[in-house]
Amino acid sequence: MPSVEKALVIRHREIAPYYYELEFISPSIAREVLPGQFVNVRISNSLDPLLRRPFSIYDVDKKLGSITVFYKVVGRGTELLSQMPIQKRLDVMGPLGKPFSIPQHISNAYLIGGGVGIAPLVYLARVLTAHNIKIKVLMGASTSGFLSGKDMFGRLGVDYLVSTDDGSEGLKGRVTDLFEQQLSITDCDYIYACGPEPMLSRITHLALNNGIEGEISLEGHMACGVGACLGCAHQVKVGESHRYAKICSEGPVFKIGEVLFHTRNEG
Ligand SMILES: Cc1cc2nc3c(=O)[nH]c(=O)nc-3n(C[C@H](O)[C@H](O)[C@H](O)COP(=O)(O)OP(=O)(O)OC[C@H]3O[C@@H](n4cnc5c(N)ncnc54)[C@H](O)[C@@H]3O)c2cc1C
Ligand code: FES
Repeated sequence: MPSVEKALVIRHREIAPYYYELEFISPSIAREVLPGQFVNVRISNSLDPLLRRPFSIYDVDKKLGSITVFYKVVGRGTELLSQMPIQKRLDVMGPLGKPFSIPQHISNAYLIGGGVGIAPLVYLARVLTAHNIKIKVLMGASTSGFLSGKDMFGRLGVDYLVSTDDGSEGLKGRVTDLFEQQLSITDCDYIYACGPEPMLSRITHLALNNGIEGEISLEGHMACGVGACLGCAHQVKVGESHRYAKICSEGPVFKIGEVLFHTRNEG
């Protein structure tokens, strides 16, 4: 059951230009939240911006009762959020959305994140590791300075590989190229991915062609965040037909092959 809390901001830092980590105390959300779920943050007490902004759960400290989100400044809301000082209170609603599942049969999983799409994969990595599932993280960014989560994955003792568009670190190319390369080397029986739609479209294509199951998390636009409007509707397949699903309540996590993409898959 989602709750609304006035969460105390205890850490807020810019880790690269435009990229921030924000930690706040929110015991009821921290207690309930599962990997893949998100929080909806009210950015200001005024009417601008009017709507809450959704952010994936980057990490959770159950003992402290804290949640960390990782975000990129892209517009008015995130710009205002980036100015939030520590010791102030933030209006947060959550946990929201459908979490990633952890099927019993999986033993080797790939976690694939593009840009801020890495955000929901850190907490997921923590939980999968606790389930003794072997994981490999593939993360991509435009350039080396924007690769986030490396420290977190390093601390968890998780294998990770990186790609950058400009070749400043790891494979020069996209994270989908890295995935394709790895598929020819290592076995994997499940995929979890989050990132821009062209990336998810390509991952879906590769996964289906290789007979690998998995889940993707969409980060589409949202309005109410709780299933009350149609601001987040996205086409999903139903047999030979399709329907509109609400990303906020039926997602953001969907099975690979379920989502209909209109973007050309990259690569
Ligand atoms: C379930 C979910 C989880 C998310 N998790 C994260 C996260 O962990 N970290 C993070 O940085 N962002 C995340 N996002 C995206 C984040 O919510 C948006 O970047 C944010 O709401 C933008 O607000 P803004 O006011 O700064 O930008 P706006 O002024 O609203 O928009 C600025 C520009 O960004 C574009 N934009 C806005 N929202 C999105 C979006 N969802 N996807 C693509 N482009 C968008 C707009 O079209 C516009 O061009 C998530 C979105 C969803 C739906
Ligand atoms: S954002 Fe309103 S229904 Fe999803």
